[in-house]
Amino acid sequence: MSKWRVKPVSAFEADMKKSELKRVLGKWSLTAIGIGAIIGGGIFVLTGTGAFNHAGPALALSFVIAGIACIFAALCYSEFSSILPVEGSAYAYAYGTIGEVFAWIIGWGLILEYAMGSMTVAVSWSGYFNKMLHMFGITLPDYLTTDPSSYTGEGFSMNLPAFLIVLFVIGILTRGTSGAAKANNFIVILKVSAVIFVIVAGLFFINAENWTPFIPDAKTIMVDNKPHEAYGIGGVISGAAAIFFAYVGFDAVSTQAGEAINPKKDIPFAIIVSLLACTALYIMVSLVLTGMMNYQDFDPKGAYPEAIKAPVAYAFDIAGQAWAGYIITIAATVGLISVLMVMIMGQSRIFLGMSKDGLIPPVFSKIHPISGTPKRNLIILGTFISIVAAFTPISKLADMTSFGTLFAFTMVCIAVWILRVKQPQLERTFKVPALPVIAICGIAINTYLMINLSIDAQLLSLSWLVVGILVYFSYGKRNSKLGKTPFNPNE
Ligand code: ALA
Repeated sequence: MSKWRVKPVSAFEADMKKSELKRVLGKWSLTAIGIGAIIGGGIFVLTGTGAFNHAGPALALSFVIAGIACIFAALCYSEFSSILPVEGSAYAYAYGTIGEVFAWIIGWGLILEYAMGSMTVAVSWSGYFNKMLHMFGITLPDYLTTDPSSYTGEGFSMNLPAFLIVLFVIGILTRGTSGAAKANNFIVILKVSAVIFVIVAGLFFINAENWTPFIPDAKTIMVDNKPHEAYGIGGVISGAAAIFFAYVGFDAVSTQAGEAINPKKDIPFAIIVSLLACTALYIMVSLVLTGMMNYQDFDPKGAYPEAIKAPVAYAFDIAGQAWAGYIITIAATVGLISVLMVMIMGQSRIFLGMSKDGLIPPVFSKIHPISGTPKRNLIILGTFISIVAAFTPISKLADMTSFGTLFAFTMVCIAVWILRVKQPQLERTFKVPALPVIAICGIAINTYLMINLSIDAQLLSLSWLVVGILVYFSYGKRNSKLGKTPFNPNE
């Protein structure tokens, strides 16, 4: 049946030869793209919730668990990108192994990760930007910083900074990947320096008593007026799901394969190095933070009700070092721009791959002859992302981004195993060690984290996937290029 058709590796290779994208990215730029996408609002914001609502001082263990889930997926992504260095990422890998309808669902799920992720990042950026303006004594009126459904005043309102930052990023991306990569490199140096600053400066304010007991006994606490199981081993695991958003993004490196100078070697390198570096930084930041501030002080009903919203900056405030909070706010504001940049770039490249295959309209695969970028694709995406970010309370849906990511990770772990069994002869410049053990561990841990996300996020994400299936049968299946010209194995 046509919906199960698999795109042969030879067809991907033929597409790669025809690609008009410019190959400008070396291994360190690719690594910076990974770090650019990973380090963002997550580490500066979710650590408070992770500690108080879930793991206590053992938050660092939650970061270890989420990091391990990502490492399994990263190894599988790396093997795939060494065989199929094409822009579609998990979507393309599934098309090459488990069939068109699955590839479509993954591509559709990746919209949650990249497009919805971009919208939530644009809204967080607006929050940080406003905070930064406050530091300089400037306050924007509420009607210019709030989406209409969250606005309590009368008349028109929109989140103007969120709207404008998306347009700014689209402006950079449409000019060319090489310039975007240079801007990203600069931002990455800045934000990694800020994270290292947090770790080193924070060391001076650690009170080791805050780490005892390291894993507090499990107990029921009230969160948003509902009983919630926190702490103990269960809390460490649910904490890993809660902070998972902080890791979202390293897989974006694989969407840049079409622009990499030496994709088969450099993409696996960049995926693994960026992830390991960020995991190490995250573990250190969470240890320092829970050492500086007792996890119970993140209680929104306690002595510091604001601490859970900006935990890292707040910990320095409490330590009497408000200036450090300023540095963190500026670094986060600038740092989030590169997350947004890589997320939108990733989404545009996935759409590019899907459009080349005929599953979405051809406008998404037109490459601009001068910039060598999918300019129209980026403009359509930017318009959509900026409007949603400006006019809806999208930040409440951040968990759906984690769902889309975990779903893609699980599918990539399955697909890499299938391809190894079905086509062991393919040349692989990077091989997942100990397969199928790594793939099975990846499937188990990523699925487990998915079912530990909030119920609302799970239901909304599943509804999104159902809508995707309807769209596939009404458009994708009928327009699929592979469906029109069936694969000839002798070609
Ligand atoms: N990992 C990215 C962040 O934390 C999405 O902002």
